Amino acid sequence: MKEIVLSGIRATGQLHLGNYYGALSKFVRMQEEGIYDSNFFIADLHALTTHPDPKILHNNVKSILSEYLASGLDPEKSTIFVQSDVPEISELYLLLNMHVGIGELMRTASFKDKARKQLGIKTENDNDDNIEKEIIGTDSNKRVNAGLLTYPTLMAVDILIQHADHVPVGKDQEQHLELTRRFARRFNSVYGVEYFKEPANFNFGGAPVKVPGLDGSGKMGKSEGNCIYLLDDEKVLRKKVMRAVTDEGPKEPNSPMSEPIKNLFTLLELVSTPDKVKFFTDAYNDCSIRYGDLKKELAQDIINVTAPIRERIIDIQNNDEYLAKAVRMGAEKARARASKTLEDVRQIMGIKRFW
Ligand code: ADP
Ligand code: TRP
Repeated sequence: MKEIVLSGIRATGQLHLGNYYGALSKFVRMQEEGIYDSNFFIADLHALTTHPDPKILHNNVKSILSEYLASGLDPEKSTIFVQSDVPEISELYLLLNMHVGIGELMRTASFKDKARKQLGIKTENDNDDNIEKEIIGTDSNKRVNAGLLTYPTLMAVDILIQHADHVPVGKDQEQHLELTRRFARRFNSVYGVEYFKEPANFNFGGAPVKVPGLDGSGKMGKSEGNCIYLLDDEKVLRKKVMRAVTDEGPKEPNSPMSEPIKNLFTLLELVSTPDKVKFFTDAYNDCSIRYGDLKKELAQDIINVTAPIRERIIDIQNNDEYLAKAVRMGAEKARARASKTLEDVRQIMGIKRFW
């Protein structure tokens, strides 16, 4: 029996280099190793917690699906599906929620973060007691939706319903995985069974990647507005890289790098050859570096990675038949295992039919 790999990305917009190096390229590598039962999906139900616009939801699903396929995920080798095509997930979500505490959900970092956004609270300085009061006290026009609170239950169900062993995700998803393990243990202990296994993140032995943004701080992220998208054309991409924040340049040999410069080097390490990285590191260390040259090379090397993917995305997006075939096959396979799990859980929980 092959070990089971499962991961997903929310359908909230186009994918950027952070998603590509933090998640998607790992998916492709795991698929290509050929030793795993690989499953990758598009989390459209999770997207509804923050992006409920019916006019764009389907297009978002379509663009992620095209980006999966264009990056090398192959429906013949992996199970590729859309979350909402597997209704068993929604039923198990209801059942598992009976064993999840609202307190533990309210303490989840991603919930507090997104709840702040839904309430329009900008700073993180606001202490958490205030946020709890705001959440409970709000009228129904300014509310934090319950789907957001139970986001970790739904993610745990995605994973547990497929009995996944490995869940390749970025570092920011660790807390959700920890909750998934806790819910699995709790279910097993409440019912005295050894039914669910405890999944773990997967990074090919290395540390999880964090792709930085071009604005000199933090990570590349959709809501940060600092992204290079796989779909950016050459002109847009060059412009973004040439505008990246830098500093005044090293004044003394071997000085430590400032955050924005470190970020440029982190990106260079991802897309360029070791020789080029060494060339610019040496130039930085002997103070001869010209950031303009570094950015030109960086832009070109990013283009070398993204341009062929971009071309394939555009092709695939126009091939509705291929898209439909891929996810129909995936839904069938994903549902087969999901319905077996759901049936087992119903039995374990004492839900029995009369017929
Ligand atoms: P975003 O932060 O842009 O909204 P998501 O939260 O939808 O992206 O992330 C989807 C996947 O991509 C997750 O596995 C996440 O860990 C990974 N990811 C997102 N941004 C980065 C980044 N800057 N570096 C590494 N991985 C990332
Ligand atoms: N929460 C994940 C993210 O924001 C997406 C996700 C939903 C997921 N369900 C999952 C990832 C199951 C891995 C496994 O990126």
